[in-house]
Amino acid sequence: MSARPAIIPMASADIDQVLELERNIYPFPWTRGNFADSLASGYSAWLARTGDELAGYALLLLAGEEAQLLNLSVAPARQRTGLGSSLFEHLCRVARAGGGQRLFLEVRRSNAQALAFYRHHGLRQIGERRAYYPAAGGREDAIVMELPL
Ligand SMILES: CC(C)(COP(=O)(O)OP(=O)(O)OC[C@H]1O[C@@H](n2cnc3c(N)ncnc32)[C@H](O)[C@@H]1OP(=O)(O)O)[C@@H](O)C(=O)NCCC(=O)NCCS
Repeated sequence: MSARPAIIPMASADIDQVLELERNIYPFPWTRGNFADSLASGYSAWLARTGDELAGYALLLLAGEEAQLLNLSVAPARQRTGLGSSLFEHLCRVARAGGGQRLFLEVRRSNAQALAFYRHHGLRQIGERRAYYPAAGGREDAIVMELPL
């Protein structure tokens, strides 16, 4: 495995590679349209890349003082090496620079690694959304978390 990935803006030309990783990570992945619409809408979208290797990506929606973390993903072989933290801290800097005061996100109740990661970064649960996500046996709740920026 090579050097520390650089964090750079995501472009439309990257969507094929992003989709490949997205489908590798999630049982219910985002679609090509989700990524294309996010870029077309001007959401803040970033890659962590070393040469040809896509190590991760992250997307943020900033609306006034509120930032919504839409997607944060690290390639399995790169997980637990601090890359998710680098991407997350990058999003927080972008949000603050754009006037964001609070960051929100939703995460599956069963996603223990993401819940541990977000708690590690100081997010607190502020609510839940019942049956928010599709799941193998029906639907799954989302945990809603917040971080003051
Ligand atoms: C969640 C995710 C983005 C974290 O990225 P990462 O690069 O693996 O995390 P980091 O290495 O920066 O971890 C930082 C800290 O978070 C916590 N953490 C991360 N993964 C963890 C795990 N599997 N179990 C427990 N704690 C974990 C730890 O406190 C860790 O610090 P430590 O390694 O010094 O103990 C990554 O695991 C991932 O892409 N998961 C699959 C996609 C996903 O679920 N995304 C979130 C959707 S809401």
